Parts: sequence; structure tokens; C-alpha cells
Amino acid sequence: MPAISCSAPGKVILCGEHAVVYQKPAIAVPVFEGSTKCSIVAKPNSPHDETIIIAPNIALKCFLSCLVEKHPIRVAINLVLEKINLDHLPVCEIRINSSLPTAAGLGSSASTSVAIIRALSTLLGYSFSDDEVNQLAFEIEKIHHGTPSGIDNTVITYAKTLFFNKGQPFEFIVPGKPLTLVIADTGIKSSTSKAVAEVRQGYLADQSKYITLFNQIGDLVLSAKESFIKGDFQLLGKTLTENHLLLREIGVSCDILDSLVDSALSHGALGAKLSGGGQGGNMIALVDSDRAESIASALISSGALKTLITHVPAKGI
Ligand code: PMV
Repeated sequence: MPAISCSAPGKVILCGEHAVVYQKPAIAVPVFEGSTKCSIVAKPNSPHDETIIIAPNIALKCFLSCLVEKHPIRVAINLVLEKINLDHLPVCEIRINSSLPTAAGLGSSASTSVAIIRALSTLLGYSFSDDEVNQLAFEIEKIHHGTPSGIDNTVITYAKTLFFNKGQPFEFIVPGKPLTLVIADTGIKSSTSKAVAEVRQGYLADQSKYITLFNQIGDLVLSAKESFIKGDFQLLGKTLTENHLLLREIGVSCDILDSLVDSALSHGALGAKLSGGGQGGNMIALVDSDRAESIASALISSGALKTLITHVPAKGI
């Protein structure tokens, strides 16, 4: 039997992270320069009579039954089986390869979940809708991140830029002209659930300060949406940088993120900010496409571990 393979992209949050957990809007962009591929092949004649999971990125090679009950890969498989009322998985080999760094704000966990759900449901003869894939991926995000807003699984499932408000219908948005982002990895692994929990502590300790910050971020996101759609990237850039300053006040930036933001701006980026949970992970810079390579090199000289350049096409392109 041929292998079934499904891939899912990564993502960055353009603006609104953290505040989105508190019912404020956010914008997320799929990133196709990094992705996760899940390939599954049925092995009915396997001598082991057991499904094997191979995921080199997380140094995992074991039988499915050896994974703890709450392991996200095991939960993903069980959710698919439950949804189609199958009580066991035919013996197979499941390979997961990702070019996305883990714990870096690029959505590697949601990307892995979406790739597994799509590949396994296809292998079993079911074609889940995007909504169904998204719902299952959200359940797995809860294991990874505790109280996620759902933005990561949604942008990765639909693979389109979206304006997202927790618990409300989301909206796909397209930029007024092609948009270019340089994404730079600090090389510092950061746990989104830890960052979200620390923000929660801050919020509980000083609600009025945090509510003000979340409201300010929410307003910036509304402005960012408008300038994104109009293609006014000068204004969008300024808005993203202001968002970074508010994220600093929230306490989720760190020295290297701040210095990469400064470096991007001083080398001509239109705006720059941390992206995702923060405390490490990745930052993004909005740039004119002809300056993308030079700003990416400047970010490496300023201490970034690596960079990616991604483009969001405009309508009709
Ligand atoms: O997974 P990350 O690191 O990109 O963070 C997701 C964005 C947060 O707003 C920090 C958390 C969430 O669930 O929305």
C-alpha cells in the first residue's frame, strides 16, 4: 500500500499575541517556508504487530503503545479514531518530519497535529473538512499550551492569513499589496504555556494595568488590519513596532528579542516585533522586499541563529 503524506505549514503571529487570550483580536500569517510532513503507510505484515512512530526532530522512535496516554501524537491518533468510531488503528508506520523549530513561536505543535490528523484520516478513507481538522487540532493545542486561544491551529489548518477573535468567527484577510516578512530565530527555546501562565499571573496581580495593555494591543490590531488590507505598510510597520513595546511592558520580551527588533529597524525595516509567546523564539520584521536579504543578514550579524523570508501574496497574485 502506498504511503499517505500530508503537510501543514508553520505560522507567525503578525500582531495581537497574548491579548488574544483575553478576547482581543489578533492577525496570524501562515508560513510555507517551514512545514511538517506526516507520512503513514499500513504495515499489515509487520513482524511486531505494532504501530511505530518515527519523528526524528523530537528524537522519537517508538511503538505507539509506548507513548504516554496524554502524548500529543497519541492523542491526535485517538481523536481521529474516535471521530470515525474505530476502536483500533491498523498496524502502520507513522513518520513525522518537520522543518519548523520547536518551542519557537512558529506553530510546530499545531503544524504537527494538523499533518497527523489529515494523513491518518485520509489513510482510513475519511476526508475531514477544515473545520473538523481545526476542532481536533485545537484539542491537542490544549495539551501543549494549557489555555490556547486557538489561533495557531486555525491559521495552520486553513493556511491563510486570518483576523482572529477567540470564540468568534474568524475572517480571512488579504494584503493590499504583496507583503514581505523576515523571521529571525533568537535560538532561545521558549515555552508558550509558561509565557501565557506568567502573563496570567501579572494580570491577576494588576488587572487594571493588564486590561489597559490588552485594550491598547486590541486597538493596534484593528489599525493593523486596516493598513494590511489597504497595503499601507509604513503605517502597518509602525503599528507592529508599537505592539512590540506593549509586549515588552507585558513582560514577554527579552534582551535578544529587543536587540533584534532594534537591529531590524536600524537597517530599514518598516516595523518589527517579537512573534508568538515571546521570552525567546522568533521575531518578525516587516520589510520592503528588495531589502529583505540585507535585513536578514543584519539580523544574523546581530545574533539571530537563522532567518526565513516569507511573502504574503496580494489579491489575485
Ligand atoms: O504558539 P506561539 O508561541 O506562537 O503563541 C501563541 C500565541 C499566544 O497568544 C501567546 C497564545 C495563544 O494561545 O494565543
